[in-house]
Amino acid sequence: MTEPAGPTPPSPYPLGLRLGGRRVVVVGGGAVATRRVPALLDAGADVLLVSPELTPALRAHVDAGRLHWEPRRFAPGDLDGAWLVQVAVDDRAAAAAVSAAAAERRIFCVRADDRTAASAWTPAVTRHGPVTVAVLGGGDPRRAMATRDAIRALLGRKGPLLTPAVEEGAPLNTGGRVALVGAGPGDPELITVKGWRLLTEAEVVVADRLVPGLLLDELRPDVELVDASKIPYGPSRAQEEINRILVDRARAGKVVVRLKGGDPYVFGRGGEELLACAEAGVPVTVVPGVTSAIAVPEVAGVPVTHRGVAHEFTVVSGHLAPDAPASLVRWEALAGLRGTLVILMGLKNLAAISATLIANGRPADTPAAVIQEGTTAAQRTLRSTLGTVAADVEAAALRPPAIVVVGDVVHTLTSTILA
Ligand SMILES: C[S@@+](CC[C@H](N)C(=O)[O-])C[C@H]1O[C@@H](n2cnc3c(N)ncnc32)[C@H](O)[C@@H]1O
Repeated sequence: MTEPAGPTPPSPYPLGLRLGGRRVVVVGGGAVATRRVPALLDAGADVLLVSPELTPALRAHVDAGRLHWEPRRFAPGDLDGAWLVQVAVDDRAAAAAVSAAAAERRIFCVRADDRTAASAWTPAVTRHGPVTVAVLGGGDPRRAMATRDAIRALLGRKGPLLTPAVEEGAPLNTGGRVALVGAGPGDPELITVKGWRLLTEAEVVVADRLVPGLLLDELRPDVELVDASKIPYGPSRAQEEINRILVDRARAGKVVVRLKGGDPYVFGRGGEELLACAEAGVPVTVVPGVTSAIAVPEVAGVPVTHRGVAHEFTVVSGHLAPDAPASLVRWEALAGLRGTLVILMGLKNLAAISATLIANGRPADTPAAVIQEGTTAAQRTLRSTLGTVAADVEAAALRPPAIVVVGDVVHTLTSTILA
């Protein structure tokens, strides 16, 4: 079918297709199909893929039972019952045959090989929670993507585009709610996209001392910021008080973000806060964060596992001394492990911890590293051995927050690079 002649072609008519349970046929099993299929699956489409061959990524969808695959070339009958067809093949003649079969059946047809021959165009898309922005570039996909990228950058920032209702004083969602958001280990760019979006929507932010300051610096002035002051060995507002604030603010209809260092459930008391909200009948979600337990060693050049070196890593809190009656850690058992030991909150008890590990069999010459304020501009790294690490930390005046890593992985990358 040809489009009406004229100096400028008519503009496309934008639609949001609700594809849940509806058959969509994808013809082709290469790179284009690999890019297109996830969004179709995300929309709940019943995808039929027709192609003699598949990329490994598409095969993974087939193996997981997410779509139907016909391992052969296209036949017009494949379109029976379909609502939409995506042609993802280079071969113009084969693509034209699909187009013709689609037109005969009044099915919209997207063409990867020739946009001018297509009856539908796929827009460049950016998704922000419930909001989907789709951009058509007047036939120029690069223009569409550039515009989409600009909008995505705007939406990624705080501002009126994302939070018009909040700016005017009314919450986006009239019901109060709490999100427990992992802020990552220190670098403000290590928060997740979802965590960042929720932070831009928040009316109340209850923040730990260890969360990246720059994230707080960028909050809107009208956001209520509550400092939970949970610094190691320092003053700490009682957990009950934090729980109370979360519940009270949410009950008052506020959108609350509880911003926590690293991941909320790694020595973060996130579980207690989730239970407190749930018990109070307050809607609550958790957004995972990049935990310092893995990220901080990583940025200091220490992979927590490495092929042929460590097949396990154990994350343990050192906030209680090994002989403390309340300790839940079996340090003597940890001493028998060959893999990597990652100790959080362990500086104060490091002498006792290393002595216990050595006394129970971990060799004193096992490499050890201590990383203070990892992923931030103030990061400091000390390399040592289990036998001397406590004294070396004291001599270097390292202080919390810091992570101690014990195991051969400490030298793996440096020795490889130096070799
Ligand atoms: C209460 S725990 C919270 C851990 C956090 N939930 C996480 O997943 O990273 C605090 C401890 O995490 C470690 N830590 C957190 N951020 C750190 C950083 N940027 N550098 C070094 N250690 C860090 C320190 O051992 C600190 O004492």
